[in-house]
Amino acid sequence: MSTDGVNVNRRRLLVGATAAVGAVGVAGVAVPFVKSWNPSAKAKAAGAPVVADISQLEPGQRAVFEWRGKPVWVVRRTPQMLESLVAVERSLADPESAASIQPEYARNRERSIKPEFAILTGICTHLGCSPNFRPEVGAADLGGADWLGGFFCPCHGSKFDLAGRVYSGVPAPTNLDVPPHTYETDSVLVIGVDAEIA
Ligand code: FES
Repeated sequence: MSTDGVNVNRRRLLVGATAAVGAVGVAGVAVPFVKSWNPSAKAKAAGAPVVADISQLEPGQRAVFEWRGKPVWVVRRTPQMLESLVAVERSLADPESAASIQPEYARNRERSIKPEFAILTGICTHLGCSPNFRPEVGAADLGGADWLGGFFCPCHGSKFDLAGRVYSGVPAPTNLDVPPHTYETDSVLVIGVDAEIA
């Protein structure tokens, strides 16, 4: 499985790897997850849903899928990562996600159906680069002690927290989008279909 994250012993390697992956690596890492589901090229182009097995995703890791030609990230957040969403709020431009795109069922602090899993479109809302996953707390190049993990766009320096919420004072105008999604089972996610609202 191709994933990246902080909760493994390969941290040093992964820092370099995540910086290098970008949009180019998306298709490559998406394949192992979706090979059991094989829509036609036409259906893919039309935005057919993508079924994603997330059973192997470890806490702290990110997996990348592709839907409608865009990377969709799934991050399995640890309890510490969830705590960081509270701690960073005063540094965010739109902590309530009022001006950002997400389904109604993801209109909450975690911006997700299940707090443990973040589902985000991996496209910067500034000019469309794909930000890097930077889960390392205290990363020196991202503000040191103030950095509690998140995403960094290398194109013009926008920063996002682990719910895809944008920091103040960066070029990106809004939070990362949350695509429509639902759960078929606890470990099978469907991207591109809205969850039913109870
Ligand atoms: S495209 Fe991300 S900061 Fe400009």
